[in-house]
Amino acid sequence: MPRTPDFTVVVLISGRGSNCQSLISHARNYRVIGVLSNTVDAPGLSYARDAGIEAVGFARREAGSLAEHKRQIYAGVEALRPDLIVLAGFMQILEQSFVERNHRTIVNIHPSILPKFKGLNTHRRVLQAYREGDTPEIEHGCSVHYVDYAVDSGPIIAQAVCPIRESDTEERLAARVLQLEHKLFPWVVNAIAADDIGYRADAVVFSPKAAAEAAEYNFFLPGRGAVRTGSRTT
Ligand code: GRF
Repeated sequence: MPRTPDFTVVVLISGRGSNCQSLISHARNYRVIGVLSNTVDAPGLSYARDAGIEAVGFARREAGSLAEHKRQIYAGVEALRPDLIVLAGFMQILEQSFVERNHRTIVNIHPSILPKFKGLNTHRRVLQAYREGDTPEIEHGCSVHYVDYAVDSGPIIAQAVCPIRESDTEERLAARVLQLEHKLFPWVVNAIAADDIGYRADAVVFSPKAAAEAAEYNFFLPGRGAVRTGSRTT
């Protein structure tokens, strides 16, 4: 019988939940023990429920204030005592106190080659820079990072990139990046669960196995000096 992994993960979502689905279906070294959403009707919740995972949507209106809404969500996460909290399209800004309590045990995926293009509408902004920018973008992609206090910041763990094509529309580019996200995110979470990726002495560290796998899958590890600028430099 396959071993049930001890390492536990709670996933936070706000909508579609395709990354959450990929995290559930590619779990090897971890168990997803809960999927929580800041909206009651996030489509991603139903996939988790069908997979037999506790899935809860927190109604903003019933909570009254935003502060109470956040408090309820954090209480829901922390009651499950996960080893790792995974933000997969969670569109609510975290309170600093929550980030502090869960230092380096929260990871997020963002659809850009961070630190470029933090925030929303990354595909549109990248395409605009590809067509009109002073330093034209030639690549786009996604990044998984540990979460710090500011939005889309914190030590970058791994990135996956794809070239931008002349024929790209925002939708086409978004679809290609999403395919990368679905591979990169479970790989990172499996590696953290197996202790092949970790955070020690102010740096993201990788086992030789993680470094070899990243090279095989074409993932970049900025912590090992493999930095992508994403722009044309000549
Ligand atoms: C993804 O593009 C992710 O990078 C961003 O939000 C989107 C969520 O998509 N943070 P999904 O809900 O996982 O399908």
